Amino acid sequence: MGDRRYRIAVIGGDGIGPEVTDQALKSLDAVADRCGFSVDTNHYDLGGTRYLATGEVLPESVVEELASHDAVLIGAVGRPDVPPGILERGLLLKLRFDFDLYVNLRPVKLLPGVPTPITGLTPERCDILIARENTEGPYCDAGGVLRKGTPAEVAIQESLNTRFGVGRIVTFAFEQALLRRRRLTLCHKTNVLTYAGDLWNRTVHELSENYPHVEVDYVHVDAMCLYLVTSPERFDVVVTDNLFGDIITDLGAAVQGGMGLAASGNLNPERDYPSIFEPVHGSAPDIVGLGWANPVAAVLSVAMCLAHLGEGVAASIVEEAAAAVVPTMNSMGGPDMGATTEELGDRIAVAVAGA
Ligand code: IPM
Ligand code: MN
Repeated sequence: MGDRRYRIAVIGGDGIGPEVTDQALKSLDAVADRCGFSVDTNHYDLGGTRYLATGEVLPESVVEELASHDAVLIGAVGRPDVPPGILERGLLLKLRFDFDLYVNLRPVKLLPGVPTPITGLTPERCDILIARENTEGPYCDAGGVLRKGTPAEVAIQESLNTRFGVGRIVTFAFEQALLRRRRLTLCHKTNVLTYAGDLWNRTVHELSENYPHVEVDYVHVDAMCLYLVTSPERFDVVVTDNLFGDIITDLGAAVQGGMGLAASGNLNPERDYPSIFEPVHGSAPDIVGLGWANPVAAVLSVAMCLAHLGEGVAASIVEEAAAAVVPTMNSMGGPDMGATTEELGDRIAVAVAGA
């Protein structure tokens, strides 16, 4: 073993979360062996099942323990019998905020051999990196309610946008564009959200002076939904606010072949806290235990984790192994995948281990 050693916290979570995470961990072990580093995993029992059993969502002591790791992997959390908001706010968003994970990085990349619902779309035309702001916007829990339950109820849900918060995600996006095709698109709704939109727009233009070789473009979020389907080749790196990013990355997942393929990283680029990597999909309680869950999104999230840890070669090996196995699948999830979740996890791990 080399002396590179990583401590990874694993939250399998609910539903298919633990199923896909187990498969992704096989590839992580295989690539560690192959590339000469070691990984210590610590499993944390968190999510809806733990909440229903104990009433606990995320104790502060666990937050502290998680913070001592090099990275965190999450499968999925959520159960139909847990009311909305409890796990989202209490676990996922709490960690994003507590760890200042201000980048939610979501690639939208069509892999060769993947059936996409967009007729005629080819991988060459679909390779996008969406940098979603992850600590501000309407996700801040700013707002309140008046006269609740009466016919005159008022609900206020505010969107917070700071020069600091917008500046750091836009800078991150420019840096990513430099590593890619050098094109940055701001996605917003500046024609209606004139206060926040103006802040975003001015920030992008001010910071663009530091990046004279990056071409800057703008698209309204509604038009983004259209272009993402009709002409994804317009985009290289896209920077956007928290809620727009949430919405357009689900559409992006559909374009790239489905939720079973969409990976994400919640990053703190300064490494003050561990970054968190998770598939974009949810816990899919309707298919739990059937072997129908596609583990590729979880595997690709491990690849993003490795890239963040500085293990670039290992990241490429895992990504390529997943890309090599995908064309052997009949569908990207469900009863007709052509193999079970576990068989696919094994196939990818074998490809990772290599010759
Ligand atoms: C996502 C999810 C989360 C979000 C929810 C579960 C809080 O939809 O990661 O995209 O809205 O960010
Ligand atoms: Mn979402």
